[in-house]
Amino acid sequence: MFPKTYRKFILTRFGEDFRACTQIVDTPWQDPGDNDVVVKNIYAGVNGIYDYNMMRNAVDYIKIDIPADLGIEVVGRIVAVGRNVTKYKEGDAVAAWKVGNGYRDYQVISQNRLYSIREPSPEILTLIPTGVSGMIGLERVGEMKTSETIAVSAAAGGLGHIVVQVAKQAGNHVIGLAGSDEKCALLRQLGCDRPINYHTEDVDQVLKTEYPNGIDIAYDSVGGITFDTFLNNLAVKGRLVISGYTSEVGKPLQSVTAPRPWTKLYFKSASIRGFINPHFQEFWPDAAERLLSAYYANTLTVLIDPTPFVGLEAVPDAVAYLMSGRNRGKVVIKLDQTL
Ligand SMILES: NC(=O)c1ccc[n+]([C@@H]2O[C@H](COP(=O)([O-])OP(=O)(O)OC[C@H]3O[C@@H](n4cnc5c(N)ncnc54)[C@H](OP(=O)(O)O)[C@@H]3O)[C@@H](O)[C@H]2O)c1
Repeated sequence: MFPKTYRKFILTRFGEDFRACTQIVDTPWQDPGDNDVVVKNIYAGVNGIYDYNMMRNAVDYIKIDIPADLGIEVVGRIVAVGRNVTKYKEGDAVAAWKVGNGYRDYQVISQNRLYSIREPSPEILTLIPTGVSGMIGLERVGEMKTSETIAVSAAAGGLGHIVVQVAKQAGNHVIGLAGSDEKCALLRQLGCDRPINYHTEDVDQVLKTEYPNGIDIAYDSVGGITFDTFLNNLAVKGRLVISGYTSEVGKPLQSVTAPRPWTKLYFKSASIRGFINPHFQEFWPDAAERLLSAYYANTLTVLIDPTPFVGLEAVPDAVAYLMSGRNRGKVVIKLDQTL
């Protein structure tokens, strides 16, 4: 017996205060279309930067209509299937990934947007879609090879700790930037060759001294000074992948007085490459399958931040926690409170 209504977490207006701009509302139960399933969401991944950008109407590639549904990735179980659904049945554990379908108790979604998983465990949320993004960013955008020097910012974060491992396992030397000694110790355990605590070490100096030939791939999701430092330390044919700009989120755009970027690129045949995952959908299934296989084979460590967040009421706290920079690994919310 399905409920007549269930709860979802929505953006009610644009603004600066996430708690004030959001609300939990009831929404009517919706039966699945012919090719859809209904998933009971069990754990949701938190993408604080994306949520804050939605609140500020600052996601350039999406037109946001208010009220807007929030949340993206979940793991859960199928509770109803449409009549043309052949790949899945009720009770199957799945990972689902669709903008607006994350922070809610149930969702209707096409069978083509699902990934089969063994159990709806929170660890999967570090892989789909976060790890998928990291893998595609490294391989397809950064054109990762082997025996390269690869630097990763926010390396102990949800995205970063997968990027570190994918880069290392491809036979590269990995430098990881993080904001505490504790995070740096964690990075060492993940195989990172040179963790750098950017609060206590001068990153530019470390790179210039220890890596005089420069960085082949700089995988940056922090922006600001980190971006500048990576740009200044690229190797010949180096690639700087822009995968985010966490340190600049919500701040006025800075006008920087500096020589034009070509001066730092041309004479090295180096490049800066923007990357957002929606532009690379053809590579999602392959990346998800490889990451899941590695996880199930115990060759990939996935980090879930241990701070518990339970129920839709916890979304603002979870988002604020991620934005504070304290998290180690992926921040998740347990939606099914019966577990
Ligand atoms: N391109 C894509 O398709 C794609 C896909 C997914 C995510 N992303 C982006 O990847 C980034 C990481 O996302 P995530 O969800 O995995 O977050 P996260 O990395 O788990 O959390 C953010 C981390 O950024 C670091 N950070 C550095 N400077 C900061 C500052 N000034 N304020 C706050 N944090 C700062 C913090 O770690 P340290 O202090 O240890 O550095 C913090 O833990 C985000 O920018 C996100 O938008 C991009």
